[in-house]
Amino acid sequence: MFDIAEKVHDETRQGEAFAPFKADANAYRKRFYIESYGCQMNFSDSEIVASILNNEGFGATRNLEDADLVLLNTCSIREKAEQTVRKRLTEFRKIKESKPGMLIGVLGCMAERLKAKLLEEEKLVDIVVGPDAYRSLPGLIEEAETGQKAVNVLLSRDETYADISPVRLDSNGVTAFISIMRGCNNMCSFCVVPFTRGRERSRDALSIVQEAENLFSRGFKEVTLLGQNVDSYYWINEATNETVTFAKLMEMVALINPLLRVRFSTSHPKDITEEVLRTMAKYENICNYIHLPVQSGSTRILQLMNRTYTREWYMAKVKQIKEIVPGCGISADIIAGFCTETEEDHQDTLSIMEYSAYDMSYMFFYSERPGTLAARRYKDDIPEEIKKRRLQEIVELQNRLSLESNKRDVGKIFKVLIEGDSKKSTAEWKGRSSQNKMIVFPKINNGLKPGDYVNVQVNECTQATLLGQII
Ligand code: SAH
Ligand code: SF4
Ligand code: F3S
Repeated sequence: MFDIAEKVHDETRQGEAFAPFKADANAYRKRFYIESYGCQMNFSDSEIVASILNNEGFGATRNLEDADLVLLNTCSIREKAEQTVRKRLTEFRKIKESKPGMLIGVLGCMAERLKAKLLEEEKLVDIVVGPDAYRSLPGLIEEAETGQKAVNVLLSRDETYADISPVRLDSNGVTAFISIMRGCNNMCSFCVVPFTRGRERSRDALSIVQEAENLFSRGFKEVTLLGQNVDSYYWINEATNETVTFAKLMEMVALINPLLRVRFSTSHPKDITEEVLRTMAKYENICNYIHLPVQSGSTRILQLMNRTYTREWYMAKVKQIKEIVPGCGISADIIAGFCTETEEDHQDTLSIMEYSAYDMSYMFFYSERPGTLAARRYKDDIPEEIKKRRLQEIVELQNRLSLESNKRDVGKIFKVLIEGDSKKSTAEWKGRSSQNKMIVFPKINNGLKPGDYVNVQVNECTQATLLGQII
């Protein structure tokens, strides 16, 4: 059943190999291969790493055996995420045995969490680089080429990679992610991110708008503004003394062109302001969709989690969203079996899910992470079978809520941005509604292409997808 829970979680879109090719593949002196794990921030960072490596004469390859440098961009969020990476490293060992010159590097959150210890634990690793140290990769590679182990896990207070133009990896040419901030100051007690990603810092707003404009001019039609906590985005333009809040930033991006859709992820419920909601309502091209992680429906558990809101406060936020942005899609992250969670607390989680009527959720059972506040303060005291049973109940409820939400859309018409062929058939398009639901529909007009908008009437649905036809 955990497979279900993990599968529905976008953040475990694991182990994809990317290959940006230059027209002249021989222009590069060496090849790198990169796999990314974890959240969208990591996938986005891999695009920055690709850009840094391209400038150093490294071209990407999709073929592990061809690579001079193999990189894993890793995640530490749950124990399972780290196990996956360890398993992958074991597989790399065999390849390295037949190719001794090949360098192996670990990037991302696991590199940051374990630091030089990773080199002791995983002897085949040559390079360890934390999320704020990617600019030092060329130097570290040189060091490793001389046979030394190379490490840089320094966290930074100001690194945002604002000036590095990401190489879009594995892109559909229609949708792209733009990192707008890094780090997190929130200290939710279960979470390792503040330790692996460091202090929160916002990227220069002008560089964000420039990146979005550049994407639009290249035919992209949707950008997702990314951060661990986007609503606390805050940047001061020193030239004009103007402050840019998240609402303002979203407006600046939305104003680039009405044909450019704007999404964002992730919002901490405590920081999403009325100003943000009003801005969403004001611009048609800011999508009506909010990922609003609840984690638990019990005020007592929320307090232990250090989430800083209560059950009632969260419910009022959901109500406010639905009032100001009618028809807004809402999804959540939910953790089952946090320390001391009782059956009653668990029932509170189920009932807040019903109340919020989430269109979708990412669901996990609690996994204690070394060094976090919860690991230091509370005992991980819920037996695994209970965690799993509660998670199963949460997953089943979400399945029902998703189906109900989709059924409510049957008969309605949505403006869909075509992203490409559907998974099943080249005779069908797939694309998403403003509410972030995937809609599949038959191709009727040969003139249409990915990046075009069409109105689609929904006439059927499954729990995961809406099916319709162009009108
Ligand atoms: N910044 C985002 C979430 C980042 S992590 C936010 O604040 O919402 C993504 C999700 O992983 C979290 O929302 C949480 O539901 C889950 N998660 C984080 N730490 C976890 C842990 N120790 N055990 C289980 N799930 C965890
Ligand atoms: Fe982790 Fe909380 Fe920060 Fe999200 S807001 S990254 S859950 S500490
Ligand atoms: Fe994982 Fe780090 Fe993201 S721990 S979820 S890759 S910020």
